Amino acid sequence: KKADIGVIGLGVMGHNLALNFERHGYRVALYNRTAEKTRSLLASAKPDQQLIGTYSLEEFCAHLERPRRILLMVQAGKPVDDMISALQPLLEPGDILIDGGNSYFLDTERRHETLKDTGILYVGMGISGGEEGALWGPSLMPGGPYQAWENLAPMLRDIAAKAEDGEPCVDYIGPRGAGHYVKMVHNGIEYADMQLIAETYHLLKNALGLSAYQLADIFEKWNQSELQSYLIQITAEVLRKRDDETGHPLVDMILDEAQQKGTGKWTSQNALDVGAAVPTISAAVDMRILSAFKHERVQASRILSGPTKAYQGDPANLINLTQQALYASKMIAYAQGMGLLRQASLEYGYDLKLDRLAAIWRAGCIIRARLLGDITAAYQSDPGLVNLLLAPAFRDTLASHHQALREVIKIGIDLGIPMMGMSTALAYYDAYRSERLPANLIQAQRDYFGAHTYRRIDRDGIFHTEWT
Ligand code: 6PG
Repeated sequence: KKADIGVIGLGVMGHNLALNFERHGYRVALYNRTAEKTRSLLASAKPDQQLIGTYSLEEFCAHLERPRRILLMVQAGKPVDDMISALQPLLEPGDILIDGGNSYFLDTERRHETLKDTGILYVGMGISGGEEGALWGPSLMPGGPYQAWENLAPMLRDIAAKAEDGEPCVDYIGPRGAGHYVKMVHNGIEYADMQLIAETYHLLKNALGLSAYQLADIFEKWNQSELQSYLIQITAEVLRKRDDETGHPLVDMILDEAQQKGTGKWTSQNALDVGAAVPTISAAVDMRILSAFKHERVQASRILSGPTKAYQGDPANLINLTQQALYASKMIAYAQGMGLLRQASLEYGYDLKLDRLAAIWRAGCIIRARLLGDITAAYQSDPGLVNLLLAPAFRDTLASHHQALREVIKIGIDLGIPMMGMSTALAYYDAYRSERLPANLIQAQRDYFGAHTYRRIDRDGIFHTEWT
Protein backbone atom coordinates (compact mmCIF):
# COMPACT_ATOMS: atom_id res chain seq x y z
CA LYS A 1 0.00 0.00 0.00
CA LYS A 2 1.30 3.43 -0.97
CA ALA A 3 1.66 6.42 1.30
CA ASP A 4 -0.97 9.19 1.50
CA ILE A 5 1.65 11.83 2.03
CA GLY A 6 5.42 12.14 2.19
CA VAL A 7 7.49 14.34 4.45
CA ILE A 8 10.94 15.53 3.41
CA GLY A 9 13.10 16.97 6.17
CA LEU A 10 12.82 15.26 9.53
CA GLY A 11 13.97 18.04 11.81
CA VAL A 12 11.75 18.50 14.83
CA MET A 13 8.91 20.13 12.84
CA GLY A 14 8.95 17.59 9.98
CA HIS A 15 9.28 14.73 12.43
CA ASN A 16 6.31 15.85 14.51
CA LEU A 17 4.10 16.67 11.53
CA ALA A 18 4.77 13.19 10.13
CA LEU A 19 3.66 11.66 13.43
CA ASN A 20 0.61 13.91 13.50
CA PHE A 21 -0.49 12.70 10.04
CA GLU A 22 0.17 9.11 11.04
CA ARG A 23 -1.87 9.46 14.23
CA HIS A 24 -4.81 10.55 12.09
CA GLY A 25 -4.69 7.35 10.08
CA TYR A 26 -2.52 8.40 7.15
CA ARG A 27 0.38 6.39 5.76
CA VAL A 28 3.44 8.62 5.69
CA ALA A 29 6.59 8.23 3.60
CA LEU A 30 9.70 9.73 5.13
CA TYR A 31 12.86 11.11 3.62
CA ASN A 32 15.76 13.02 5.10
CA ARG A 33 19.01 14.10 3.45
CA THR A 34 20.96 12.16 6.07
CA ALA A 35 19.55 8.67 6.55
CA GLU A 36 20.34 8.73 10.26
CA LYS A 37 17.30 10.89 11.10
CA THR A 38 14.97 8.64 9.14
CA ARG A 39 16.33 5.57 10.90
CA SER A 40 16.07 7.07 14.36
CA LEU A 41 12.48 8.19 13.74
CA LEU A 42 11.57 4.67 12.63
CA ALA A 43 13.46 3.16 15.56
CA SER A 44 11.42 5.21 18.04
CA ALA A 45 8.12 4.40 16.29
CA LYS A 46 5.82 1.57 17.31
CA PRO A 47 5.81 -1.43 14.90
CA ASP A 48 2.21 -0.86 13.82
CA GLN A 49 2.78 2.79 12.89
CA GLN A 50 2.14 3.58 9.23
CA LEU A 51 5.56 5.03 8.47
CA ILE A 52 7.68 4.18 5.44
CA GLY A 53 11.33 5.07 5.57
CA THR A 54 12.94 5.86 2.22
CA TYR A 55 16.58 6.57 1.41
CA SER A 56 16.52 8.23 -2.00
CA LEU A 57 14.14 10.71 -3.59
CA GLU A 58 13.34 8.12 -6.29
CA GLU A 59 12.33 5.60 -3.65
CA PHE A 60 10.40 8.29 -1.78
CA CYS A 61 8.42 9.35 -4.87
CA ALA A 62 7.75 5.74 -5.86
CA HIS A 63 6.09 5.12 -2.49
CA LEU A 64 3.54 7.91 -2.84
CA GLU A 65 -0.06 7.51 -3.93
CA ARG A 66 -0.80 9.67 -7.02
CA PRO A 67 -1.31 12.53 -7.29
CA ARG A 68 1.57 12.75 -4.85
CA ARG A 69 1.42 14.92 -1.78
CA ILE A 70 4.80 16.04 -0.53
CA LEU A 71 5.46 18.22 2.48
CA LEU A 72 8.86 19.90 2.42
CA MET A 73 10.11 20.75 5.88
CA VAL A 74 13.63 21.88 5.04
CA GLN A 75 15.34 25.12 6.03
CA ALA A 76 14.02 28.22 4.27
CA GLY A 77 16.16 29.60 1.47
CA LYS A 78 18.47 27.68 -0.83
CA PRO A 79 17.68 24.22 0.60
CA VAL A 80 14.09 24.65 -0.63
CA ASP A 81 15.23 25.55 -4.15
CA ASP A 82 17.69 22.66 -4.19
CA MET A 83 15.03 20.20 -3.10
CA ILE A 84 12.54 21.48 -5.68
CA SER A 85 15.15 21.05 -8.44
CA ALA A 86 15.94 17.54 -7.29
CA LEU A 87 12.26 16.55 -7.08
CA GLN A 88 11.00 18.17 -10.26
CA PRO A 89 12.13 15.41 -12.70
CA LEU A 90 10.52 12.80 -10.42
CA LEU A 91 7.10 14.45 -10.26
CA GLU A 92 4.11 14.49 -12.60
CA PRO A 93 1.38 17.01 -13.41
CA GLY A 94 -1.14 17.10 -10.58
CA ASP A 95 1.39 16.26 -7.88
CA ILE A 96 1.27 18.63 -4.92
CA LEU A 97 4.42 20.06 -3.43
CA ILE A 98 3.99 21.90 -0.13
CA ASP A 99 6.66 24.10 1.43
CA GLY A 100 5.85 24.18 5.14
CA GLY A 101 8.85 26.24 6.23
CA ASN A 102 9.08 29.93 7.08
CA SER A 103 9.90 30.85 3.48
CA TYR A 104 9.98 34.45 2.35
CA PHE A 105 6.73 35.00 0.47
CA LEU A 106 8.44 36.43 -2.62
CA ASP A 107 10.51 33.25 -2.87
CA THR A 108 7.23 31.33 -2.79
CA GLU A 109 5.83 33.59 -5.53
CA ARG A 110 8.92 32.91 -7.64
CA ARG A 111 8.79 29.13 -7.11
CA HIS A 112 5.08 29.13 -7.92
CA GLU A 113 5.83 30.98 -11.15
CA THR A 114 8.61 28.55 -12.08
CA LEU A 115 6.48 25.46 -11.48
CA LYS A 116 3.25 26.83 -12.94
CA ASP A 117 3.70 25.35 -16.40
CA THR A 118 4.90 21.95 -15.18
CA GLY A 119 1.50 21.06 -13.76
CA ILE A 120 3.03 20.56 -10.33
CA LEU A 121 0.80 22.31 -7.80
CA TYR A 122 2.99 24.38 -5.51
CA VAL A 123 1.65 25.25 -2.08
CA GLY A 124 3.35 27.68 0.32
CA MET A 125 2.00 26.82 3.73
CA GLY A 126 2.64 28.76 6.92
CA ILE A 127 2.75 26.50 9.95
CA SER A 128 2.62 27.86 13.47
CA GLY A 129 2.69 26.27 16.86
CA GLY A 130 6.25 25.13 17.35
CA GLU A 131 7.15 21.55 18.18
CA GLU A 132 4.09 20.83 20.29
CA GLY A 133 1.77 22.33 17.71
CA ALA A 134 3.29 20.27 14.91
CA LEU A 135 2.66 17.10 16.88
CA TRP A 136 -0.72 17.81 18.48
CA GLY A 137 -2.28 20.41 16.21
CA PRO A 138 -0.75 23.44 14.52
CA SER A 139 -2.42 26.39 12.88
CA LEU A 140 -1.98 25.97 9.13
CA MET A 141 -1.95 28.71 6.48
CA PRO A 142 -1.86 27.11 3.01
CA GLY A 143 -1.69 29.30 -0.07
CA GLY A 144 -1.35 28.40 -3.75
CA PRO A 145 -3.60 26.73 -6.35
CA TYR A 146 -7.13 26.23 -5.03
CA GLN A 147 -7.18 22.79 -6.66
CA ALA A 148 -4.37 21.73 -4.33
CA TRP A 149 -6.32 22.98 -1.32
CA GLU A 150 -9.36 20.94 -2.34
CA ASN A 151 -7.19 17.85 -2.42
CA LEU A 152 -5.40 18.59 0.86
CA ALA A 153 -8.25 20.03 2.91
CA PRO A 154 -9.47 16.81 4.61
CA MET A 155 -5.95 15.84 5.72
CA LEU A 156 -5.03 19.32 6.88
CA ARG A 157 -8.29 19.67 8.80
CA ASP A 158 -7.48 16.40 10.56
CA ILE A 159 -4.03 17.41 11.75
CA ALA A 160 -4.80 21.07 12.54
CA ALA A 161 -5.54 22.42 16.01
CA LYS A 162 -9.22 22.74 16.83
CA ALA A 163 -10.65 26.01 18.12
CA GLU A 164 -13.01 26.00 21.11
CA ASP A 165 -16.01 25.62 18.82
CA GLY A 166 -14.34 22.58 17.23
CA GLU A 167 -13.42 24.33 13.99
CA PRO A 168 -10.06 23.23 12.53
CA CYS A 169 -7.44 25.98 12.47
CA VAL A 170 -6.77 25.80 8.76
CA ASP A 171 -8.31 27.40 5.71
CA TYR A 172 -7.40 28.32 2.17
CA ILE A 173 -5.50 31.59 2.48
CA GLY A 174 -5.13 32.73 -1.12
CA PRO A 175 -3.13 32.32 -4.33
CA ARG A 176 0.66 32.10 -4.82
CA GLY A 177 2.61 33.34 -1.78
CA ALA A 178 -0.44 34.30 0.30
CA GLY A 179 0.06 31.53 2.87
CA HIS A 180 3.63 32.47 3.60
CA TYR A 181 2.72 36.14 3.58
CA VAL A 182 0.12 35.59 6.26
CA LYS A 183 2.51 33.46 8.31
CA MET A 184 5.09 36.25 8.08
CA VAL A 185 2.61 38.77 9.48
CA HIS A 186 1.60 36.27 12.16
CA ASN A 187 5.24 36.30 13.24
CA GLY A 188 5.40 40.10 13.10
CA ILE A 189 2.44 40.21 15.46
CA GLU A 190 4.16 37.54 17.58
CA TYR A 191 7.23 39.79 17.87
CA ALA A 192 5.08 42.77 18.93
CA ASP A 193 3.15 40.72 21.49
CA MET A 194 6.36 39.34 22.98
CA GLN A 195 7.91 42.82 23.16
CA LEU A 196 4.86 44.25 24.94
CA ILE A 197 4.94 41.42 27.46
CA ALA A 198 8.68 41.95 27.94
CA GLU A 199 8.16 45.67 28.65
CA THR A 200 5.48 44.86 31.16
CA TYR A 201 7.86 42.46 32.88
CA HIS A 202 10.67 45.02 32.79
CA LEU A 203 8.55 47.80 34.28
CA LEU A 204 7.03 45.73 37.08
CA LYS A 205 10.38 44.14 37.92
CA ASN A 206 12.23 47.44 38.14
CA ALA A 207 9.51 49.67 39.55
CA LEU A 208 8.35 47.26 42.23
CA GLY A 209 11.46 45.13 42.68
CA LEU A 210 9.45 41.94 42.22
CA SER A 211 11.12 38.56 41.92
CA ALA A 212 10.57 36.34 38.90
CA TYR A 213 8.35 34.09 41.03
CA GLN A 214 6.19 37.03 42.15
CA LEU A 215 5.92 38.10 38.52
CA ALA A 216 4.93 34.56 37.59
CA ASP A 217 1.98 34.86 39.98
CA ILE A 218 0.90 38.08 38.28
CA PHE A 219 1.07 36.67 34.76
CA GLU A 220 -0.68 33.53 35.88
CA LYS A 221 -3.52 35.62 37.24
CA TRP A 222 -3.65 37.73 34.09
CA ASN A 223 -4.01 34.56 32.09
CA GLN A 224 -7.45 34.18 33.66
CA SER A 225 -8.46 37.61 32.32
CA GLU A 226 -9.08 39.21 28.93
CA LEU A 227 -5.31 38.82 28.44
CA GLN A 228 -5.63 35.02 28.32
CA SER A 229 -3.18 33.78 25.70
CA TYR A 230 -0.50 31.23 25.01
CA LEU A 231 2.25 33.84 25.29
CA ILE A 232 1.05 35.05 28.71
CA GLN A 233 0.73 31.44 29.88
CA ILE A 234 4.27 30.51 28.86
CA THR A 235 5.58 33.78 30.33
CA ALA A 236 4.20 32.69 33.70
CA GLU A 237 5.78 29.26 33.29
CA VAL A 238 9.12 30.74 32.23
CA LEU A 239 9.17 33.10 35.24
CA ARG A 240 8.35 30.20 37.56
CA LYS A 241 11.29 28.06 36.39
CA ARG A 242 14.24 27.62 38.77
CA ASP A 243 17.80 27.16 37.54
CA ASP A 244 19.00 23.85 38.98
CA GLU A 245 22.64 24.92 38.95
CA THR A 246 22.41 28.24 40.78
CA GLY A 247 19.04 28.03 42.45
CA HIS A 248 18.08 31.40 40.95
CA PRO A 249 15.09 31.88 38.68
CA LEU A 250 16.33 30.63 35.32
CA VAL A 251 15.11 33.76 33.49
CA ASP A 252 17.52 35.88 35.59
CA MET A 253 20.44 33.78 34.36
CA ILE A 254 19.64 34.15 30.65
CA LEU A 255 21.70 36.59 28.57
CA ASP A 256 19.59 39.56 27.44
CA GLU A 257 20.40 39.37 23.73
CA ALA A 258 17.38 38.49 21.59
CA GLN A 259 17.98 36.58 18.39
CA GLN A 260 15.77 36.50 15.32
CA LYS A 261 15.44 34.46 12.20
CA GLY A 262 14.01 37.21 10.02
CA THR A 263 10.23 36.91 9.78
CA GLY A 264 9.63 39.94 12.04
CA LYS A 265 12.09 42.01 10.09
CA TRP A 266 10.46 40.96 6.81
CA THR A 267 7.11 42.09 8.18
CA SER A 268 8.46 45.56 8.95
CA GLN A 269 10.28 45.80 5.64
CA ASN A 270 7.25 44.72 3.67
CA ALA A 271 4.95 47.06 5.59
CA LEU A 272 7.12 49.92 4.33
CA ASP A 273 6.78 48.53 0.80
CA VAL A 274 3.00 48.26 0.81
CA GLY A 275 2.56 51.47 2.79
CA ALA A 276 1.08 50.17 6.02
CA ALA A 277 2.07 51.56 9.42
CA VAL A 278 3.16 48.85 11.85
CA PRO A 279 5.25 50.85 14.34
CA THR A 280 4.81 48.41 17.21
CA ILE A 281 6.02 45.48 15.12
CA SER A 282 8.99 47.57 13.97
CA ALA A 283 9.65 48.60 17.58
CA ALA A 284 9.82 44.94 18.52
CA VAL A 285 12.38 44.30 15.77
CA ASP A 286 14.34 47.40 16.81
CA MET A 287 14.39 46.33 20.44
CA ARG A 288 15.73 42.89 19.46
CA ILE A 289 18.45 44.64 17.46
CA LEU A 290 19.29 46.99 20.36
CA SER A 291 19.31 44.11 22.80
CA ALA A 292 21.95 42.37 20.71
CA PHE A 293 24.37 45.29 21.26
CA LYS A 294 24.97 43.97 24.75
CA HIS A 295 28.62 44.93 24.85
CA GLU A 296 27.92 48.53 23.77
CA ARG A 297 25.04 48.79 26.21
CA VAL A 298 27.23 47.71 29.08
CA GLN A 299 29.70 50.47 28.19
CA ALA A 300 26.99 53.06 27.63
CA SER A 301 25.31 52.24 30.92
CA ARG A 302 28.39 53.69 32.62
CA ILE A 303 28.54 56.83 30.49
CA LEU A 304 25.00 57.95 29.74
CA SER A 305 22.82 59.25 32.52
CA GLY A 306 19.11 58.88 33.17
CA PRO A 307 16.65 59.31 35.99
CA THR A 308 17.55 57.89 39.38
CA LYS A 309 14.05 58.10 40.82
CA ALA A 310 12.33 55.14 42.39
CA TYR A 311 8.64 54.38 41.93
CA GLN A 312 6.67 55.94 44.80
CA GLY A 313 3.13 54.88 43.95
CA ASP A 314 0.93 52.07 45.11
CA PRO A 315 2.15 48.66 43.84
CA ALA A 316 -1.32 47.16 43.43
CA ASN A 317 -2.37 50.17 41.39
CA LEU A 318 0.64 49.83 39.10
CA ILE A 319 -0.05 46.13 38.54
CA ASN A 320 -3.63 46.93 37.66
CA LEU A 321 -2.68 49.78 35.31
CA THR A 322 -0.05 47.64 33.62
CA GLN A 323 -2.55 44.89 32.97
CA GLN A 324 -4.84 47.34 31.20
CA ALA A 325 -1.93 48.95 29.35
CA LEU A 326 -0.74 45.59 28.11
CA TYR A 327 -4.18 44.69 26.82
CA ALA A 328 -4.69 48.06 25.14
CA SER A 329 -1.28 48.01 23.45
CA LYS A 330 -1.80 44.40 22.40
CA MET A 331 -5.09 45.32 20.72
CA ILE A 332 -3.39 48.18 18.90
CA ALA A 333 -0.49 45.97 17.78
CA TYR A 334 -2.93 43.37 16.41
CA ALA A 335 -4.83 46.16 14.66
CA GLN A 336 -1.58 47.18 12.96
CA GLY A 337 -0.94 43.62 11.81
CA MET A 338 -4.48 43.21 10.49
CA GLY A 339 -4.16 46.60 8.76
CA LEU A 340 -1.02 45.38 7.02
CA LEU A 341 -2.84 42.24 5.86
CA ARG A 342 -5.66 44.34 4.49
CA GLN A 343 -3.27 46.58 2.58
CA ALA A 344 -1.16 43.67 1.29
CA SER A 345 -4.26 41.82 0.13
CA LEU A 346 -5.01 44.72 -2.22
CA GLU A 347 -1.38 45.18 -3.26
CA TYR A 348 -0.78 41.50 -4.15
CA GLY A 349 -4.31 40.47 -5.10
CA TYR A 350 -4.47 37.88 -2.31
CA ASP A 351 -8.15 38.46 -1.52
CA LEU A 352 -7.53 37.68 2.15
CA LYS A 353 -10.51 37.06 4.40
CA LEU A 354 -9.48 38.71 7.65
CA ASP A 355 -12.19 37.00 9.70
CA ARG A 356 -10.92 33.62 8.49
CA LEU A 357 -7.32 34.48 9.32
CA ALA A 358 -8.24 35.53 12.84
CA ALA A 359 -10.38 32.39 13.16
CA ILE A 360 -7.53 30.01 12.32
CA TRP A 361 -5.26 31.82 14.78
CA ARG A 362 -7.61 31.06 17.66
CA ALA A 363 -5.77 27.81 18.45
CA GLY A 364 -2.56 26.03 17.56
CA CYS A 365 -0.40 29.04 16.77
CA ILE A 366 1.94 31.08 18.94
CA ILE A 367 -0.32 34.16 19.03
CA ARG A 368 -3.44 32.20 20.00
CA ALA A 369 -5.39 34.25 22.51
CA ARG A 370 -8.85 35.06 23.73
CA LEU A 371 -8.49 38.31 21.79
CA LEU A 372 -8.50 36.41 18.49
CA GLY A 373 -12.07 35.30 19.11
CA ASP A 374 -13.00 38.98 19.43
CA ILE A 375 -11.07 39.86 16.27
CA THR A 376 -12.86 37.07 14.38
CA ALA A 377 -16.22 38.37 15.58
CA ALA A 378 -15.35 41.95 14.65
CA TYR A 379 -14.53 41.04 11.04
CA GLN A 380 -17.48 38.66 10.78
CA SER A 381 -19.95 41.32 11.74
CA ASP A 382 -18.26 43.90 9.49
CA PRO A 383 -16.18 42.33 6.68
CA GLY A 384 -15.38 45.81 5.30
CA LEU A 385 -13.94 47.04 8.59
CA VAL A 386 -11.13 49.43 7.62
CA ASN A 387 -9.36 49.33 10.99
CA LEU A 388 -9.88 46.94 13.87
CA LEU A 389 -9.74 49.87 16.31
CA LEU A 390 -13.06 51.06 14.91
CA ALA A 391 -14.94 47.86 15.74
CA PRO A 392 -17.37 48.68 18.57
CA ALA A 393 -15.82 46.21 21.05
CA PHE A 394 -12.30 47.52 20.37
CA ARG A 395 -13.33 51.16 20.42
CA ASP A 396 -15.03 50.66 23.79
CA THR A 397 -12.19 48.73 25.40
CA LEU A 398 -9.69 51.32 24.25
CA ALA A 399 -11.90 54.09 25.58
CA SER A 400 -11.67 52.50 29.01
CA HIS A 401 -7.99 51.42 28.78
CA HIS A 402 -6.07 54.14 26.93
CA GLN A 403 -5.62 56.24 30.06
CA ALA A 404 -3.88 53.31 31.78
CA LEU A 405 -1.59 52.95 28.77
CA ARG A 406 -0.66 56.64 29.07
CA GLU A 407 0.00 56.31 32.81
CA VAL A 408 2.17 53.25 32.41
CA ILE A 409 4.27 54.82 29.64
CA LYS A 410 4.72 57.92 31.82
CA ILE A 411 5.94 55.79 34.69
CA GLY A 412 8.36 54.03 32.35
CA ILE A 413 9.65 57.40 31.16
CA ASP A 414 10.07 58.62 34.75
CA LEU A 415 12.06 55.54 35.65
CA GLY A 416 14.09 55.50 32.42
CA ILE A 417 12.69 52.17 31.29
CA PRO A 418 12.37 51.89 27.49
CA MET A 419 8.74 51.34 26.52
CA MET A 420 9.23 51.31 22.79
CA GLY A 421 6.41 48.88 22.05
CA MET A 422 3.81 50.52 24.27
CA SER A 423 4.82 54.04 23.23
CA THR A 424 4.49 53.25 19.53
CA ALA A 425 1.14 51.57 20.14
CA LEU A 426 -0.19 54.64 21.89
CA ALA A 427 1.26 56.97 19.26
CA TYR A 428 -0.39 54.89 16.52
CA TYR A 429 -3.70 55.10 18.37
CA ASP A 430 -3.40 58.85 18.89
CA ALA A 431 -2.31 59.42 15.29
CA TYR A 432 -5.11 57.31 13.88
CA ARG A 433 -7.75 59.15 15.90
CA SER A 434 -6.36 62.60 14.97
CA GLU A 435 -8.51 64.55 12.60
CA ARG A 436 -5.59 66.86 11.94
CA LEU A 437 -1.91 65.86 12.03
CA PRO A 438 1.04 68.19 11.52
CA ALA A 439 1.64 66.88 8.01
CA ASN A 440 0.53 70.31 6.76
CA LEU A 441 3.84 71.64 8.07
CA ILE A 442 5.76 68.82 6.38
CA GLN A 443 4.05 69.62 3.10
CA ALA A 444 4.97 73.29 3.49
CA GLN A 445 8.60 72.40 4.20
CA ARG A 446 8.71 70.13 1.15
CA ASP A 447 7.28 72.88 -0.99
CA TYR A 448 9.76 75.40 0.49
CA PHE A 449 12.93 73.45 -0.25
CA GLY A 450 11.91 71.43 -3.27
CA ALA A 451 8.83 73.00 -4.84
CA HIS A 452 7.04 69.70 -4.19
CA THR A 453 3.63 71.47 -4.08
CA TYR A 454 0.77 71.03 -1.61
CA ARG A 455 -2.99 70.87 -1.55
CA ARG A 456 -5.23 73.22 0.42
CA ILE A 457 -8.08 72.55 2.80
CA ASP A 458 -10.33 75.23 1.27
CA ARG A 459 -9.86 74.79 -2.50
CA ASP A 460 -9.13 72.01 -4.99
CA GLY A 461 -5.91 72.04 -6.97
CA ILE A 462 -2.15 71.81 -6.58
CA PHE A 463 -0.33 74.81 -5.14
CA HIS A 464 3.19 76.10 -4.92
CA THR A 465 4.40 79.16 -3.02
CA GLU A 466 7.52 81.28 -3.43
CA TRP A 467 8.35 81.06 0.28
CA THR A 468 11.14 83.65 0.39
C1 6PG B 1 5.54 29.77 15.09
C2 6PG B 1 6.84 30.49 15.30
C3 6PG B 1 7.96 29.79 14.59
C4 6PG B 1 9.35 30.21 15.02
C5 6PG B 1 9.58 31.67 14.94
C6 6PG B 1 10.77 32.12 15.73
O1 6PG B 1 4.62 30.42 14.62
O2 6PG B 1 5.47 28.58 15.39
O3 6PG B 1 6.71 31.80 14.83
O4 6PG B 1 7.74 29.94 13.22
O5 6PG B 1 9.60 29.74 16.28
O6 6PG B 1 9.77 31.97 13.59
O7 6PG B 1 11.17 33.31 15.17
P1 6PG B 1 12.45 34.08 15.64
O8 6PG B 1 13.57 33.09 15.72
O9 6PG B 1 12.67 35.10 14.55
O10 6PG B 1 12.12 34.68 16.95
